[in-house]
Amino acid sequence: MRRPIIVANWKMHTSPTEGVALAQALIVLDLPFDRVDVVLCPPTLGVIPVSGVIGSGPIQMGVQNVHWHDAGAFTGEISAAMLTGVASHVIVGHSERRAMFGETDVSVNRKVRAVLAHGLTPIVCVGEVLEQRDAGETQYVVASQIRRALMDVPAGKVAELVVAYEPVWAIGTGRNATAAQAEEVIRWIRAQLEGEFGSDVAHAVRIQYGGSVNSANCTALLNCHEIDGVLVGGASLVLDEIAAIIRAAG
Ligand code: PGA
Repeated sequence: MRRPIIVANWKMHTSPTEGVALAQALIVLDLPFDRVDVVLCPPTLGVIPVSGVIGSGPIQMGVQNVHWHDAGAFTGEISAAMLTGVASHVIVGHSERRAMFGETDVSVNRKVRAVLAHGLTPIVCVGEVLEQRDAGETQYVVASQIRRALMDVPAGKVAELVVAYEPVWAIGTGRNATAAQAEEVIRWIRAQLEGEFGSDVAHAVRIQYGGSVNSANCTALLNCHEIDGVLVGGASLVLDEIAAIIRAAG
C-alpha cells in the first residue's frame, strides 16, 4: 500500500503572517497525520516562518520551484541546496511555470536531478492541455513529459519521487477530471514507469491527481486504487477544505 500524500500549493497567495496563521490552525486539528503525508508549499517568503510553525511535527515543508544550480548570478531564484534542513519537497514543472515562465521538459529534468541530488523529493507535474485531450493526445503528451523529466534519473531515485498528474484544463477552472479520467491517465503513467524503470519502481512511486480538487470531489478521487493523493491549489487556502481533504485521504 502506498501512503497517500496531500500537497497544498498556495501559489502566490498568503503573506508570511497569513501562512503562519493557516499552518497554526491546521496543525492543531485532529487529522490522520499518522496515515497521510501532508506537505505545505507556501510562497518562498513564507517557507521559513511556516516551517517554524510545523517544526518537526507530522506536516512537511515544500516549495513551489527551484533553480537547478546550487548558487550563482540568478536573480530572483532559490536553489535546492539552500533548502537543505528547511524543506523536504519541491514542486517541479507545474503547468503555470511551463505556460508563463518558460519551463521546458529540459529545465524540469535539470530541476528534478538537482532536487534529488540534495536529498529532497520532487513532485513532478505533468498534464495535457484541452486541445491535446480533445485531439486524443493525452497519453502521448504525458508519456513524453514523464520520459523527459526523468531522463538520467536512476531507478532507485525514481521510486522516491512523487508524480502529479494535473490536466491543465482542470487547474483553477472548477472543472476537475472525473475519478475515472484521472485514474485512466495515472494507470498509464504507472505503465510508462514500469516500462522504463521496472515494476518495483512503478509500484513504489506515488502518483497524485491535481486540478480543482475540493472537499466535495476529493473522496471519489482518493478512493481510486491508482490515485495516491492530491495536489490542491485554491481549496488548500481554505482551512475547512484542506482539512476535509486530508481527512478523506486517511
Ligand atoms: P487548483 O490548482 O486546485 O486551484 O485547480 C491545482 C494546482 O495547480 O496544483
